[in-house]
Amino acid sequence: MQRIHTANELRSTLNTKSNIAFIPTMGNLHDGHIALVSLAKQHGECVVASIFVNPLQFGPNEDLANYPRTLEADCKRLADAGADIVFIPSVKEMYPDFDGEHLNQTMTITPPSIAAELCGASRPGHFAGVATVVMKLFNLVMPQVAIFGKKDFQQVFVIKELVRQFNLPIQIIAGDTVREPSGLAMSSRNGYLTPTQKSEAAQLHQCLANIVHAVKQGNTNFTVLENSASQTLAQQGWLVDYVSVRATDTLKPATNQDKELVVLGAAKLGSTRLIDNIDFCAK
Ligand code: PAJ
Repeated sequence: MQRIHTANELRSTLNTKSNIAFIPTMGNLHDGHIALVSLAKQHGECVVASIFVNPLQFGPNEDLANYPRTLEADCKRLADAGADIVFIPSVKEMYPDFDGEHLNQTMTITPPSIAAELCGASRPGHFAGVATVVMKLFNLVMPQVAIFGKKDFQQVFVIKELVRQFNLPIQIIAGDTVREPSGLAMSSRNGYLTPTQKSEAAQLHQCLANIVHAVKQGNTNFTVLENSASQTLAQQGWLVDYVSVRATDTLKPATNQDKELVVLGAAKLGSTRLIDNIDFCAK
C-alpha cells in the first residue's frame, strides 16, 4: 500500500487509475472502518483511504487535541484489508491558509438546515466542517464511489446532499454499523471510556432498539417513546443530547405516514459523547 502525503503526489498517482473507491477517515481505525474498506473493494478497482483529523469539524471545546492518533497501526490495518493507497495530508496541505493556529480565511460549505438539527444543534459548524473537508477530499481523489458508515447517519445525509446539490459524479454507498457483541457501536471515542463505562455504553443502543420494537408493534407515539428513552438513559446516568425518530429520506421528524424510519440518539457518558442510530421499516 502506498502512503501519500501531498495533493501533488496524489494527483499524479491517481491520474492513471480508474474506478476509484474512496473511504475518508480520521484514523484510529477499528473494525467499522475496515468493513468500509471491504465494501470499497466490492465497488472499485483502486481503493483509496484517507486519514485526516479535520480541525474544521471540531468545536472549540471538543476533543481535537486529544483525538487518538495511531498512524502506524492504521496503515497496517488498511494494508491488511487490501487498500491500495492511503492519503495522509497535513493540515496545511488541506487548508492552505492555515497559519499554524487558525483556519479563519477558509472558504466553507454551508449545509442545508437539517445540519443544524440533531448532532448539529449541539455541535454548531460541525457539518459545515465535514461537508467542506469531504468536498476537498472528493476534489483531490476524484473517486467514482465513496463509502461512508451509517453509524454517522446524519453525516451520510449531509454528504448525499453535497453530491446532489453540487452535481458531483460520485456514488455514495452507506455501510452498516459494526458493533461490539454488547451492541455498542464501534467508535474511536469508545477508547475514552473506562471499563465500567464501556459495559454501560450499550444502554444507548438498547434504548434505541426498544423504540424500534415498540414502533414495529404499532406504537407511533414518537414523542412519548423519545421522552421515555431519554428518561431511562438519564436514570442510568447519561446526559442525553437527543433521542429522535425521523423519516429516513428527509430526516424530518417521523409522522404516522412514514414507513422508512431511523431512530437516532446522542448522549454523554461521563465526558464522552456517543451517538448511535437504527434504521428500520415500520411494520
Ligand atoms: P471517522 O469518524 O474516522 O469515520 C470514518 C468513516 O467510518 C465514517 O464514514 C463513519 O461513519 C464510519 N464508521 C465509524 N464507525 C463505524 C462503525 N462502527 N461501523 C461502520 N462504519 C463506521 O466520519 C468521519 O471520520 C469524518 O467525519 C470524515 C467523514 C472522515 C470527515 O472528516
